[in-house]
Amino acid sequence: MRIIKANDYADMSRKAANVLSAQVILKPNSVLGLATGSTPLGMYRQLIEWHRKGDIDFSEVTTINLDEYIGLAPRHPQSYRWFMDNNLFRHINIKPANTHVPDGLEPDEARESSRYEALIQGCGGIDMQLLGIGHNGHIGFNEPGAAFEKNTHRVPLTDTTIHANSRFFPDGDVPREAYTMGIRSIMQARRILVVVSGKSKAEIARRAFFGAVTPQIPASVLQLHNNVTLVGDAEALSLY
Ligand code: F6R
Repeated sequence: MRIIKANDYADMSRKAANVLSAQVILKPNSVLGLATGSTPLGMYRQLIEWHRKGDIDFSEVTTINLDEYIGLAPRHPQSYRWFMDNNLFRHINIKPANTHVPDGLEPDEARESSRYEALIQGCGGIDMQLLGIGHNGHIGFNEPGAAFEKNTHRVPLTDTTIHANSRFFPDGDVPREAYTMGIRSIMQARRILVVVSGKSKAEIARRAFFGAVTPQIPASVLQLHNNVTLVGDAEALSLY
């Protein structure tokens, strides 16, 4: 694992954007696996800025997102599709048809899972997968205890996640399930870029990247991947 220690969130965002843009510059038709969440937002803003300056071209890039809530339409403001469109895609020159997020409105798990896996294979596999990590070590929606050998599948959300999300759903219609790439799908990416920021992530970063590999800490499986770059700010890497 390559570890890049950044001073703070802004520095982490810039360094992670550098790694991702190097990937796109070296292979303009890269397939990027992307994540939502607060950690990559600064990196997405940096990529948008460099794109506007003419330094990075996304016209041949394909993106495949990690996860999506079940039951949310793409135009729901809490959907991950909406998040990606508004925080990245509509600000860069990516072709909308080349951006992929699991279909939260597909009720048939088997159909959606095999469609998504076929999509990944059909693009030739993921060149670089971006990941954030949860406070409990989750990656995507693979929560503690998730089997390492799973591909894209449907998962119930934990009570903590449902509770944390409830403030975004004033009508009370909080999603209770999601589609997520499985750990196996994630581990098949050729390169993995992990971003981690803030004091509240220091303990889980230490356990996940410098402790034992265990399904109880899903991100720990990344220690078994042969091409991982971890970009963390000083607070998140303070215990390492
Ligand atoms: C996002 C995702 C999640 C987040 C994780 C960290 O698509 O799959 O696993 O990466 O929850 O979220 P933040 O960055 O908000 O701390």
